[in-house]
Amino acid sequence: MSKIDMLGLKNVSAERIMRILDGACEMKKLLLSGNKKVNALQGKSVFLMFYEPSTRTSSSFDAAAKMLGANCMSLAVKNSSVNKGETLIDTGRTIDSMAADIIVIRHSLGGAPHLLAGNVAASVINAGDGAGEHPTQALLDMFTITQHRGSIKGMKVAIVGDIKFSRVARSNIWGLTALGAEVSVCAPATLLPADIDRLPVKVCKDAREAVKGAGAVMALRLQLERQSGGLFPSIKEYNRYYGISTQLLQEADKGALVMHPGPINRGAEISSEAADGIMSVINEQVTSGVAVRAALMCELTGRL
Ligand code: CP
Repeated sequence: MSKIDMLGLKNVSAERIMRILDGACEMKKLLLSGNKKVNALQGKSVFLMFYEPSTRTSSSFDAAAKMLGANCMSLAVKNSSVNKGETLIDTGRTIDSMAADIIVIRHSLGGAPHLLAGNVAASVINAGDGAGEHPTQALLDMFTITQHRGSIKGMKVAIVGDIKFSRVARSNIWGLTALGAEVSVCAPATLLPADIDRLPVKVCKDAREAVKGAGAVMALRLQLERQSGGLFPSIKEYNRYYGISTQLLQEADKGALVMHPGPINRGAEISSEAADGIMSVINEQVTSGVAVRAALMCELTGRL
């Protein structure tokens, strides 16, 4: 049987997404139980290769793998032979030769997980590639929405902020629309991707229009590390027009969810009142991350 990877949500079927989200329901129960340990992945090896910083994604993969009884190892990229000039493919093949079953990779270059997947026997999970995709973040976002609002079909979801450099936005656009959501996006023209007209979204010039009637409102971090600068006048002005505030949220549907993939820059893309308010599910998204990543690893190894 050929291996299965999770490199992005473009062209992933609604059936596969729902299978993972259904599995995550069981994983969340396990995670929140008094005995968060099963042997579903006993005998399997999971390697984490993070070439970019991470708190949520790396630790939730680690927690999920250990909860399921897998061996989980994290490559300390800064102290690895990458610094001696080893290529991504050679590093990947080295990890693969240790009988890895799953390799989780985050890399600043778009397409790095795809390159790796074509050169190793292990299943590869994209944990974020440049401005490409971040499929497990979108899966956990969709899982969080379904936990609160049931079906995503027909629901309006607003994504506000740096769409251009956001891999989270791209994965959510593919995943949410596969499940039948109507996605509205709002960003300064300089922070919209060049191919925005080919994406299945409604582009709104005014954040109030994007948020109006939405059942979930996603804020995005300004990906300053990927920007060349000069794309907006100042954080203060950006916040005024594109920041998620309690005032802006009054336009949203009753019971709308306030979401953010994290890390948050308070006062830039979201106010503290909105991030910590009763509509916020930002901390719950982190819990969902462990559940969804556990379910995905079971799916990739045929144990879901
Ligand atoms: N949302 C997200 O990917 O967070 P980390 O960068 O902390 O993993």
